[in-house]
Amino acid sequence: MKAAVLHAFGEPPRYEEFPEPTAGPGEVLLRVKASALTQLARSTARGSHYARPTALPCGVGVDGAGTLPDGTRVYANGPRSPYGMMGELTVVPRDRCVPVPEYVDDVRAAALPNAALASWLALAHRTKLAPGETVLILGATGVAGKVAIRVARHLGAGRVVAAGRNEDVLKTLPGLGADATLSLDQSDDALAAALAKEDREHPIDVVVDFVWGPAAGVALRTFTGRGHVESVRRARYVSVGSMAGPVAPVPSEPFRSSGLELVGSGIGSVPVSAVIGSLPKIWELARAPDLPLSTESVPLASVAEAWDRPEPGGVRRVFVP
Ligand SMILES: NC(=O)c1ccc[n+]([C@@H]2O[C@H](COP(=O)([O-])OP(=O)(O)OC[C@H]3O[C@@H](n4cnc5c(N)ncnc54)[C@H](OP(=O)(O)O)[C@@H]3O)[C@@H](O)[C@H]2O)c1
Repeated sequence: MKAAVLHAFGEPPRYEEFPEPTAGPGEVLLRVKASALTQLARSTARGSHYARPTALPCGVGVDGAGTLPDGTRVYANGPRSPYGMMGELTVVPRDRCVPVPEYVDDVRAAALPNAALASWLALAHRTKLAPGETVLILGATGVAGKVAIRVARHLGAGRVVAAGRNEDVLKTLPGLGADATLSLDQSDDALAAALAKEDREHPIDVVVDFVWGPAAGVALRTFTGRGHVESVRRARYVSVGSMAGPVAPVPSEPFRSSGLELVGSGIGSVPVSAVIGSLPKIWELARAPDLPLSTESVPLASVAEAWDRPEPGGVRRVFVP
């Protein structure tokens, strides 16, 4: 079969012949229809993600849409190494296959779960967003960040503040449901002042952070010094990605002087059952004709040249075998 094969971390995968997989116990053979070039697919192939492959050469791509031997259309993740999702065939655990409704096409079925689960799991599972709470999204101009606005609204957020770097995309976010926007492209002091003003006017309950790095250190400071209180207002900060850097300067004061709690959300911090169990709800988001998820379909045969080609802001590239 043809597949996208990784020979060295950091190099683009090559489109070439790869042995056909055979399903083992508890697995199923999947004929792949589409697989998205997510940041997870990229960073595992770079070798910089904690879920990177342990042996090369291997297939790439961590999730996608395809058909089971009985013809059922499914979304699946977690292909067994050395197979990836970016190939004509792969093998996945049977219990990681979720039927795709007919109103979601293969390309969207491949692109939506990663983008939406990022905030869904962070808000519904890791921070347990309560109706009416205020959510701040850091990195809201990316694919997952834009969908996060919709997810926060869907889960009952009372106010959504979208922060991002790309000014052009930032301007479009009120149209997607953000109540306020905030630029991440400013000095640390200016960002700190903007966040403090926002928090004074509408106390932030949950931060969904796709960027981490220096901006996270600044954002955490927002929670410093809520003063002596009769009852502590609980706030949650959830790290979902690290686009601006893998390490943040984490100050101590905000944690001592407010009800702030810091958690992460991703592979390893959320059980697979919660990931798979959330998908039927994720498909419901796709019923909205204006769901903010733009995709670009590219033939898998072009994987080597398309891998590192920059995408227009907020568009997800999807490979089609
Ligand atoms: N844990 C999970 O469950 C989960 C699931 C999905 C995604 N993620 C992670 O979430 C992150 C975002 O994913 P995505 O799909 O939205 O990626 P994406 O579409 O490529 O968007 C990346 C976002 O990060 C911003 N960004 C990049 N470098 C930055 C910097 N130095 N400073 C500030 N902002 C910066 C981009 O801003 P511009 O628009 O200005 O370029 C954009 O908003 C990734 O780290 C990804 O691995 C985690």
